[in-house]
Amino acid sequence: MTDVLIRGARPYGEGEPCDVLVSDGVIARVLAGGELPDGDLPGGAEVIDAAGLVLLPGLVDLHTHLREPGREDTETIASGSRAAARGGYTAVFAMANTDPVADNALVVEHVWRRGREAGLVDVHPVGAVTVGLGGERLAELGTMAASAANVRVFSDDGKCVHDPLIMRRALEYSTSLDVVIAQHAEEPRLTVGAQAHEGEQAARLGYPGWPASAEESIVARDCILAAHAGARLHVCHVSTAGTAEVLAWAKGRGTRVSAEVTPHHLLLTDERLGSYDPVNKVNPPLRTAPDAEALRTALAEGVIDCVATDHAPHAVQDKDCEWAAAKPGMLGLQTALSIVVATMVRTGLLDWRGVARVMSERPAEIGGLPDHGRPIAVGEPANLVLVDPDAEWTVRGGELASIAGNTPYEGMRLPGVVTATLLRGRVTAAAGRIG
Ligand code: DOR
Ligand code: ZN
Repeated sequence: MTDVLIRGARPYGEGEPCDVLVSDGVIARVLAGGELPDGDLPGGAEVIDAAGLVLLPGLVDLHTHLREPGREDTETIASGSRAAARGGYTAVFAMANTDPVADNALVVEHVWRRGREAGLVDVHPVGAVTVGLGGERLAELGTMAASAANVRVFSDDGKCVHDPLIMRRALEYSTSLDVVIAQHAEEPRLTVGAQAHEGEQAARLGYPGWPASAEESIVARDCILAAHAGARLHVCHVSTAGTAEVLAWAKGRGTRVSAEVTPHHLLLTDERLGSYDPVNKVNPPLRTAPDAEALRTALAEGVIDCVATDHAPHAVQDKDCEWAAAKPGMLGLQTALSIVVATMVRTGLLDWRGVARVMSERPAEIGGLPDHGRPIAVGEPANLVLVDPDAEWTVRGGELASIAGNTPYEGMRLPGVVTATLLRGRVTAAAGRIG
């Protein structure tokens, strides 16, 4: 395996530039402040000129929809892996709402194997909580956990495990497996026919509303269920200020709850509804500007643990249609870091160490990945990303690695460019192209 020398990067954007030598997939040397003498360079090493770049642990996404098996016309494990690598990710969790659903060992092992074949990011399948995402019968969590895919996260995402008895059983069962239940918090009785955030914008456009209470009531309920079960709960895509308050309360009383926020809920608001463009349709929906502000604060303060993309590719016919018929979801893998730079770094809410925490370290801990989100230090696995903090790029859906093109950031100029991603010392993406 070729050695890689990263010359002149600043780990976490702090201190003096240093040289990082990667050998056999691990960080072999870190020479702070000084240049590695050329005499010490292993023969044939690939050298990356990283002057001016920030070096971070490779990003980890707890919430990706890869659409394989079933909808390979919108994304495959290979195309999604390419998008992830170009976005700076070294590990992604692939949601279970595929066709067939990933609710058994056969499907999760298939996804895991396909991820290994693609070889660009570690693809960790999420197992469904209930059979067929039907919400009625617990899936065989134990078999999936014990499979080759070693499933550590279970979720019916796309749907809420709304029956409190099923949710309670899942949480109780999860404690013996030491896994986490990730909830898509949406009380379905409160979102029948919902098309957009219940508020002024939806009322003006005549869209049936998706109220904040449908999310907040489930999160409150599940925090209580998790606390009584002594279980670990993870809340997917937190979208309201009220949910952040519930999380602060639950964490304050010692509940083992973690939470994620998407880049789009940090940046975009329901003011976008006026365009009538279904590219802005997503579940949970874009909320108000005060909600987005509260989410940014909650992320900065650790009430929300991490950023997850909810990368959701959809076919043209499912997005280029009238609003009510459109499927919810937007691409996220290649734009996530830039949106975090725009909303959190440029605003002074997070420094680069904070970015490493919310996009790599915390998601790796929550998902149980021992080899990701590690310190940049000798002996650690070389799962790394180099970012140009000052460069900008223009988003073009057609140029993204995903098969689908449903990005809400089309034509936008965004700060922060992923210059290279390394998975176990191998360059998986470089300056937007696979190395
Ligand atoms: O917008 C969304 N899209 N939210 C979800 O929960 C599911 C996802 C999808 O699968 O398209
Ligand atoms: Zn969801």
